[in-house]
Amino acid sequence: MIIADDELHARWLNTLSLMENTGARKISASEDPLTVTYIVLKHAAEEHRHAFYLKKQIEKTRDGLCPTYAAEYLLAPAFSRYYLNQLDIEVCRYLKNDLGLSGKDLRFAAYLLVTYAIEVRADELYPVYQQALENAGSKVNVKSIILEEEGHLEEMIAQLKKFSGDWEYHAQKAVAFESRLFADWIAALSGSLTLYANL
Ligand SMILES: [Fe+2]
Ligand SMILES: [Fe+2]
Repeated sequence: MIIADDELHARWLNTLSLMENTGARKISASEDPLTVTYIVLKHAAEEHRHAFYLKKQIEKTRDGLCPTYAAEYLLAPAFSRYYLNQLDIEVCRYLKNDLGLSGKDLRFAAYLLVTYAIEVRADELYPVYQQALENAGSKVNVKSIILEEEGHLEEMIAQLKKFSGDWEYHAQKAVAFESRLFADWIAALSGSLTLYANL
């Protein structure tokens, strides 16, 4: 339904682009200027590319649609902005209260857990979207993003293993926070679609 309507599809792409950009900026902001690694730099660069690439796909819907991240060019704008920031807040609270982390350690651990949960979601969401694009015969495609997101999940697991022997337990906490927020985002999206259908 979203793909069949150019304007709606453009807004969906723009919303994904906004969320990739939010993630990219979060990774960049969490980088330690001294100890930042190859993997973190690669990851930040690729998330920034995803935001740009999704923005570029909008041209394949109709030229000139959704030039910025202003609310009128997004789906569920308030919640789409809130989702990642809220996940970050909940993960940081957990790391602080349950693991007693602070400062630099907290920032790095939050990067690991938040990003892990997002990558699990990305590995589920993008293939479903790609399949829908193919079914609809759309010119838009997100295959290059899928490939990189799969790499990211593996890289996050490798980093998490170094971080803690109990990484799976902590990662499941982050996934639980994310699952609730994702369900709320889906609800906000369908609200946004109903609103759009009634315009
Ligand atoms: Fe991404
Ligand atoms: Fe990613």
